[in-house]
Amino acid sequence: MSQDIQSKIEQLTAELNTYNYQYYVLANSVISDYDFDQKLKELEALESAYPEYRDANSPTLKVGGDITSKFNTVQHRWPMLSLSNTYSEQELIEFDERVQKSIGHAVQYVCELKFDGLSISLTYEKGKLVQAVTRGDGVQGDDVTNNVRTIRSIPHQLRSKAAYPDLFEIRGEIFMHKSAFLRLNNEREENGESTYANPRNFASGTIKLQDSSEVAKRPLDCFLYFLYMDNRNRVFQSHWDSLNAVQSWGFPVSDHSKLCATIQDVLDFVHYWDTARHQLTFDIDGIVIKVNDYAYQEELGFTAKSPRWATSYKFKAERAETRLNTVSYQVGRTGAVTPVANLAPVLLAGTTVRRASLHNANEIERLDLHQNDTVYVEKGGEIIPKIVGVNLEKRMPGATPIQYPDSCPECGAGLVRQEGEAVHYCPNEDHCEPQIIGKLQHFIGRKMMDIQGLGDETIVSFYKQGFLSHISDIYTLKDKQDLLVNIERFGQKSIDNMIAGIEQSKNKPFEKVLFALGIRHVGETVAKKLAFHFKSLLHLKQASIDEIAAVQDIGIRIAESVYHYLQQPEHLSELNKLEAAGLNFEVTEKVVELAGNSLEGKTFLISGVFATHSREDLTALIESHGGKMLSSISSKLNYLVAGDKMGPSKLVKAEKLKVPIISDEQLLQMINQ
Ligand code: IVH
Repeated sequence: MSQDIQSKIEQLTAELNTYNYQYYVLANSVISDYDFDQKLKELEALESAYPEYRDANSPTLKVGGDITSKFNTVQHRWPMLSLSNTYSEQELIEFDERVQKSIGHAVQYVCELKFDGLSISLTYEKGKLVQAVTRGDGVQGDDVTNNVRTIRSIPHQLRSKAAYPDLFEIRGEIFMHKSAFLRLNNEREENGESTYANPRNFASGTIKLQDSSEVAKRPLDCFLYFLYMDNRNRVFQSHWDSLNAVQSWGFPVSDHSKLCATIQDVLDFVHYWDTARHQLTFDIDGIVIKVNDYAYQEELGFTAKSPRWATSYKFKAERAETRLNTVSYQVGRTGAVTPVANLAPVLLAGTTVRRASLHNANEIERLDLHQNDTVYVEKGGEIIPKIVGVNLEKRMPGATPIQYPDSCPECGAGLVRQEGEAVHYCPNEDHCEPQIIGKLQHFIGRKMMDIQGLGDETIVSFYKQGFLSHISDIYTLKDKQDLLVNIERFGQKSIDNMIAGIEQSKNKPFEKVLFALGIRHVGETVAKKLAFHFKSLLHLKQASIDEIAAVQDIGIRIAESVYHYLQQPEHLSELNKLEAAGLNFEVTEKVVELAGNSLEGKTFLISGVFATHSREDLTALIESHGGKMLSSISSKLNYLVAGDKMGPSKLVKAEKLKVPIISDEQLLQMINQ
């Protein structure tokens, strides 16, 4: 019996690891998400009943969950060296000349992208991932194995057929895709959390988190580019061979590497990627050039710091010098105070830069900014301009340091900074103008109450004229129509539209209302989790901090924020008014009223943007005609409804699985037939 269970666990582990490899490395869906989850659940249940048979690399651990109180320091078996680098093509030519002089003739080079993330060294024993260590000082680094195990593209177990050695180390770069960076940073901003300056900082901040379940929520990816093993030179003749081999063992290896016969080929590769890099989904900061043949690598050897057989060419981050005029402090909807540098306009990477974010007080301190300093500006991660340094030679004598304010620049309230947080907050959340306006604008937003006919500018104008100061005032606007018509450019038609939009918003479900309230740290996902767990505002109001924190994925910081929000009489009176106005404060089971059955038994997935319909509208339309929505592309999917800007990977996947791709027009035709 126990033999059977053990082999069932082994079989499920192997099967799920294969699916993960197919999906995350080869971008191939061979099983539906649902079936995958079922198998995962089956394995989880078996493992919890028979923990002795759980594999240390079980796919059930991929979602994370271990809290590491501190990372152990681990000595690297082979030191993690860095690379010499250059920004000059002439120096690349000189590198080639040095190599040719030592070896006596021309050699092949492997050109690779220089991924802009953090380097990692993975140890595999008998095909199993046993350790993941950061670079640290090159001699020893942090053991971050639990966190690295949450990265889907890194195999926990290599496929048994692959001919890998018993013990090897493989090195590569962990990074975050630009889209994930933007999405998560926006979410952090919405939740009033500090943001990261670029994907690299986000990735390295993530890998150092103590809680691996938090790491699992931040999608990281990895490319491997270097193999170490005993007798490597006897097994492989060259770096290129080893890259092909490790790819066949199941590792994610970039397809953009190239074998080059001459330095001219290398320079062509560099030129190509200097522009093409902007089309990549991740950041690179240069090109790595490696002598291909292991025998020649050995002959060339190392300096104290780096190999003589490799170098890197770094792309010039476009940089400009300009004057810092002033620093202003913006107060956001949640009260977070962000310093912004106002600069003398300067042209940088094709756009005129006038402002740069300074993130927080630490950043001002780090740069040691003084009034009227001449500063260097770069496009950080090609997205947000940032100040990278000060030209001290041009500092005015007697210039005073920039001082972060003690009080809110908008309302004068004393600023607070919570322990361990970089951000200062204005605590006067209900009486500080930008917070009031920001909260009203947040409430009407598309992903919140989605109030049609009421826009951000109208909110400002209504606030300034005294029609709005609390969210609940929105629902009294219909009684003030006589006064509203007097407002310039706001005719009866606009008023009718707005009133209709406000009325419509009363149908929004509880989770949207909870998100729309703008409680600090309560973003879209948190609001959903709280709504579905507590089912009603009444239950949420009755919950203690511990009870709120006990909800899956809700940390103590969020719990405290929600609890304190619901303790304040001013908020409770607001909530009462909103409830009286008819907003939903309970989870309602979704009952889809069928308008027809033309799509019965068919499954759909919507992707991209559409000119005439929102995705929500299309979903409602499909469901009301008997169709079912799926959340990913699998062999169970009948139709992919594609709009503009659909991701290329979705297209490839759908084509591979021969899922018909239809437009919104074609969907409507199917419904009408
Ligand atoms: S090879 C001994 N290949 O760049 C050679 N490094 O400045 C070891 N990096 O620490 C490195 N992409 O974090 C290599 N394709 C690539 C790389 C790469 C990014 C990083 C890596 C390394 C740093 C060296």
